[in-house]
Amino acid sequence: MQISGTDLAKEIKAEVKQGVKDAVDRYGRPPHLVVILVGEDPASQSYVKGKGKDAEEVGFKSTTLRYPATISEEELLHIIRDLNKDDEVDGILVQLPLPSHIDEDKVIETIDQSKDVDGFHPANVAALWQKRPCTYPCTPKGIIKLLDKAGVDINGKRAVVIGRSNIVGLPVAKMLLDRNATVTIAHSKTTDLKKVASEADILVVAIGRPRFVTADMVKEGAAVIDVGVNRDPATGKLCGDVDFNEVAQIAGVITPVPGGVGPMTRACLMENTLECYLKNQESKI
Ligand code: GUN
Repeated sequence: MQISGTDLAKEIKAEVKQGVKDAVDRYGRPPHLVVILVGEDPASQSYVKGKGKDAEEVGFKSTTLRYPATISEEELLHIIRDLNKDDEVDGILVQLPLPSHIDEDKVIETIDQSKDVDGFHPANVAALWQKRPCTYPCTPKGIIKLLDKAGVDINGKRAVVIGRSNIVGLPVAKMLLDRNATVTIAHSKTTDLKKVASEADILVVAIGRPRFVTADMVKEGAAVIDVGVNRDPATGKLCGDVDFNEVAQIAGVITPVPGGVGPMTRACLMENTLECYLKNQESKI
């Protein structure tokens, strides 16, 4: 069975939209999300466009700030500090990756934690790993919601995450662990990856290689979550990290690319932005 991220994202955005209406009645203005894009990377441009579109759809005020790849680190940090001080900005997102002359860690740390809608700030990351209240990073949050929606019982299951990035692999592994899965974090250098992957009841793949996971790596009936967004080298078309046609024959549930995790990441960003806004408004009372 295929799990549609597009459909679930629609449901989440409808709830956020209602939340925005209530918020406007109560506080007099909608949440304001500011997305910063540095440079002209086509994938980043497309992600940022999608975020702006969803923000408008749910009724947010949405601003996209675009800067050339030559912007200095100091200039970018200055812009972020000004946004931190602006009472009418609720969420700040800097699209990654950044050009190599800019220190990404410094940029992430500079975003006020209360406006960190990505959940990337070190204080947010620490809170996640210490099971304290936090803003959950959007893609891992979306993955857990997809599994719940598909009726996959995470409790007691064996989960394998292929990929160990700060954005997806590590936080999704922690969130699965907190739902009582037994979690293995694997990566491109894992010895005998095929054997490790094929023991998974839940397989999350975020390695960034087109069709990396083949049918022989997947257990019959497994839930397969494909986080990959790649260009097929042969056709130039969008494809995931999982060979969908092959693996769909074996998996119990599987997410497609496009239309799986991607729309969920954006829907969870909308949810996080509304949550940050509400928390900040409530703290002002
Ligand atoms: N680059 C790839 N994914 C993400 C994300 O979720 N947030 C940001 N800010 N940059 C990204």
